[in-house]
Order: sequence, then C-alpha cells, then structure tokens
Amino acid sequence: MGQVTVIEHPLIQHKLTLMRKSETSTAKFRSLLKEISLLLAYEVTRDLPLKHELIETPLSPMQAPVLAPDKKLVIVSIQRAGQGILDGMLELMPSARVGHIGLYRDPKTLVPIEYYFKVPQDIDKRDVVLVDPMLATGNSAVAAVHRLKSTNPMSIKFVCLLAAPEGIEHFCEAHPDVPLFTVAIDDKLDEHGYIIPGMGDAGDRLFGTR
Ligand code: URA
Repeated sequence: MGQVTVIEHPLIQHKLTLMRKSETSTAKFRSLLKEISLLLAYEVTRDLPLKHELIETPLSPMQAPVLAPDKKLVIVSIQRAGQGILDGMLELMPSARVGHIGLYRDPKTLVPIEYYFKVPQDIDKRDVVLVDPMLATGNSAVAAVHRLKSTNPMSIKFVCLLAAPEGIEHFCEAHPDVPLFTVAIDDKLDEHGYIIPGMGDAGDRLFGTR
C-alpha cells in the first residue's frame, strides 16, 4: 500500500541532522532547509520526460536532450512551513508555478482547518509537487491532497522532510496513488502530535516565532 521513498543521500542526511539540533539558529535552519529542498527537487523530478532538439555546439551540431515542454509543474506549499521547501525548490526550477494551501491544526483536535487556497488556473494541465516539512498525524497532507484532487491535476507527489509512522500509514491509506518522498521516518508522535525525536515545530524554527 502506498509508494514511500526515503531519500538517503548522505548530504541530505547530514543536513537534516544539523536542522534537528536544538542549538541550530533560525538563519542556519532556514538555509539548511533551502539546501535540502534543492536536493529533494532533484530527486522528485528524476522522471521528468526529455525530448531531443538540434543544437550547435562550437564544434558540431547535435541532438541534445531538453525538458519536454508539455510537462509543466506546480509546486504547492502547505503554509506556513512548506514555504521553506518551496523557496529551495524554486531555485532549481525557477519557472515552476506556485500554489498555496493555508491549513492550521486545531491544537485540541489536530484537525486541519483550511483558511487559504490558491493554485494556478491551468492546474489540470500540470503535475503537482506538494510540500510540507513534517508529516505528523498526516491530517494536513491528507486534506491538502483531497483538496488538490478536486482541481484535477495531471499527477500529485508529496514531499516532506520528516515523517512519523502514523502519518505515513494515514497518508498511504487515504491516497495510495500519491507517491510520498521523505528524508527520514522517525519513531512516533507525542501526545501533542509532534514527531519524536523530530526537530520541533518546523514553522517556529523557520520563522523564529518561538
Ligand atoms: N509539525 C511540526 O512542525 N513539527 C512536528 O513535530 C509535527 C508537526
């Protein structure tokens, strides 16, 4: 059930460890998230189709590979922590379109409440990369994918940094057709829905709000 890929590249794993450390500053956390996201973008776009076009090098003509123009991406960020991954991915794919989903977790029920939704009008002709650093209960990611499916995109992939086993199970049960990419699968959730050992509140650490 589900398609889960754990991205085990040593550079990503090392940077994730730096992000987890409680002494890592907001500025460092932000720049590490950007660097990891660039590498994640590289992994999730591995299957982008290529076509060949005739070009001239200084020495010879050749048929050279370029990205197929009919394959268009939209990166959709779950606010607010998704913004950190979005910024990194846009460095590698500057012409990708961007969508935003505003969801917050009700602190008592942990149920996601939508307060914002804006995606490109032609999303039905695009492949979606949905990003959020933490897959904890899975409630937000599951709700975001449901909402995105209602706009009929060509495909959806979900990318996070850390996942809890509970979140993976919930996500794969709700959306077995959506590939999930993560850098690590941690031990469990605590009673407040935080990932253990995790990295704390990704939004707070990214924006320095606590
Ligand atoms: N959201 C976070 O930012 N951190 C967690 O551990 C869980 C959800």
